Amino acid sequence: MIREFQPQKIPRPMQVAQLPKDLNFLDIEIGCGVGFHPLFYARSNPGRFLIAIEKTSDKFDKFQRRYLNHKSPQNLIPIHANAVAWITHFIKPNTVDRYFILYPNPYPKDPQKRFFAMPFMKYLIETLKKGGQITLATNEKDHYEEAKQLAIEYWNLDLVEDRIVLAKEQPRTHFEKKYLERGEICYNLIFAKR
Ligand SMILES: C[S@@+](CC[C@H](N)C(=O)[O-])C[C@H]1O[C@@H](n2cnc3c(N)ncnc32)[C@H](O)[C@@H]1O
Repeated sequence: MIREFQPQKIPRPMQVAQLPKDLNFLDIEIGCGVGFHPLFYARSNPGRFLIAIEKTSDKFDKFQRRYLNHKSPQNLIPIHANAVAWITHFIKPNTVDRYFILYPNPYPKDPQKRFFAMPFMKYLIETLKKGGQITLATNEKDHYEEAKQLAIEYWNLDLVEDRIVLAKEQPRTHFEKKYLERGEICYNLIFAKR
C-alpha cells in the first residue's frame, strides 16, 4: 500500500521558470542527468516545450554548460531542483503532455523510493492532461515489472508501449549508452492517463 501524498510537507524550491504564454505542449523530464536527452528532444520537437529537472549539482552543471553551448534552445528550461518538490509547487493539474523518467535510480534496498511506488505519483498523474503520457526506461528487470504492475493496477494507467530498446538504436541518454554498450537489456514503457 502506498502512503498518502502530503504536499504540505514538501519545501518550495528556489528556482522558478517563466513559461511562454502560448504553450501548446508541455513536457517534463525528471532526473535528466548531464542532459543528452533534453537537448536532443528540444531540437527534434520545436513545437513542444520541455522542462528538464536534475537534482545533483555536478550533473546539472554539465547539463547547463551543454545547454549554453547549444545556444540555449528557446523551448527548453533546465531546472536544478528535486523534481518532486518542483513539480508539486509549480505544475498545475491537467497541464502536462509527457513525462520522461529515463533510467531513474532503482534503489534496490529502498523500493518505496522508486517513482511508481511513491505517494508523489498521485500528484504527477494529476498534472497530466487526459491522454498524457509517462515514459519510463530502466535496465532493471524487477524495476520494469514492478513499475508496469503498479502503473496498470494501482494507478489505472493504460499501457501504450512495452518494448526492449534495440542495441542498434541511437542511445537517448548517457546511461542508456552505457547499458547498451555493455549488452544489457533496456526496457521502455509508455503509459497514458485515461
Ligand atoms: C541513473 S541517473 C540517469 C540520468 C539520465 N536520465 C540518463 O539516463 O543518463 C538518475 C538521475 O536522476 C537524478 N534524480 C534522482 N531523483 C531525482 C529527483 N527527485 N529530482 C531530480 N533529479 C533526480 C539523479 O541525480 C541522477 O542524475
